[in-house]
Amino acid sequence: MSSRFWHGFADMHVIKDAEVVFRSAEGVWLEATDGRRFLDTTAALWYCAVGYGRREIADAVAEQLTRIAAYSSFGPYTTEPTVQLAERLASMAPIDDAVVFFGSGGSDAVDTAAKLARRYWDVVGRPEKRIIVSREHGYHGMHAWGTSLAGIPGNKAGYGGEIIDEVVTVGLNDTESLGALFERRAGEIAAFIGEPVVGAGGVYPPEPSYWAEVQRLCREHDVLLIADEVITAFGRTGSMWGSLRYGIEPDMILFAKAVTSGYMPLGGVLVGPRVSEPFWAGSAPGPMFVHGYTYSGHAAACAAANANLDILEREGLVERVASLESDFEARIRRLADAPLVGEIRTVGFTAAVPITADALAGDASLPAKVVAAALRHGIATRVLRGHAIHISPAFTITQDEVDTMVDGLRAAFEEVAGSVG
Ligand SMILES: Cc1ncc(COP(=O)(O)O)c(C=O)c1O
Repeated sequence: MSSRFWHGFADMHVIKDAEVVFRSAEGVWLEATDGRRFLDTTAALWYCAVGYGRREIADAVAEQLTRIAAYSSFGPYTTEPTVQLAERLASMAPIDDAVVFFGSGGSDAVDTAAKLARRYWDVVGRPEKRIIVSREHGYHGMHAWGTSLAGIPGNKAGYGGEIIDEVVTVGLNDTESLGALFERRAGEIAAFIGEPVVGAGGVYPPEPSYWAEVQRLCREHDVLLIADEVITAFGRTGSMWGSLRYGIEPDMILFAKAVTSGYMPLGGVLVGPRVSEPFWAGSAPGPMFVHGYTYSGHAAACAAANANLDILEREGLVERVASLESDFEARIRRLADAPLVGEIRTVGFTAAVPITADALAGDASLPAKVVAAALRHGIATRVLRGHAIHISPAFTITQDEVDTMVDGLRAAFEEVAGSVG
């Protein structure tokens, strides 16, 4: 019998006998309460960029908690680390003159951006532009907006239809249908949202001309472009922003995860001048964005982000990902000849190692079996969209540790293949 904790994305019938409880972590290594150690292949949920056990971030948070833990950001109020972080993110962002709206994670950021896109068109006199277009395999969090925008059918089924029905999903790299959709309905479309690299849907880097064409179509049809960089911001692809790597010029950028490396929950939206202008320029009274969360701009979370970004910069971790990208890929591709393994996809410090379609057709639970076997070989990982093993370690992982991860995963694939027969 497990604890009373209801796990996310989990069949509790299975998990109630298989809960893994961690008590500490250092670098890329996790320790469970029963003493077992695991190499963390995924930086938890893609977020722990700087690795575990960073005293410097803990100290910054402790210092902030004792000074002023948090305060309302509604109306005129805010706190020092919040404005410092907003300034810093705006100066780092690949959007000139951006402003920042904070929330507690990626799903908050998605809701904020989706509402702001619609509100923007409302205040500029085009309230009929309400549809948000997303793409196949896209993951945009689990709030109501994100659930509806999902391009992963399993994540949106079972709620009695679309929660928010003004969404349209197009194919992963399909700019032709996107163009045709814009041609027909641009007058009703508020925004296009996409991850620079599809993450939770299975690590799909874009085709070379994809983002340039999306950019062109959005400009031509006056559709806002939202880059969901909850995974790609702060270096996962070897660029500080996925938008930089792929030449995207978004109107809004969503971030979360690696902004604090998960030491505190934080996310937000970098909003470019086109969208912020009606709400900021001119004199009062003016239109408002009536939105905000209790913990928007939480002081201790922002202090964690500031300390985390100091580490990323001081240790050159984004540059490290860029310089080791091909070495990382070569090491991961050693799994290509392991049993059950299909076509591996990698970019930056992330990869998906799929199970072949044939093997999955015979047994859809193979990925879960590989994850369970990996735990027996000292490797903590998880399944991406029912078909692949997820790899996205901390940016600090050593090459030896990458080899340990690959060896452990190979042993897991071999063990499962052996029992399949
Ligand atoms: C691209 C993307 N957007 C949004 C989210 C939602 O973030 P959160 O789980 O912090 O709400 C995620 C989470 O994995 C994500 O990968």
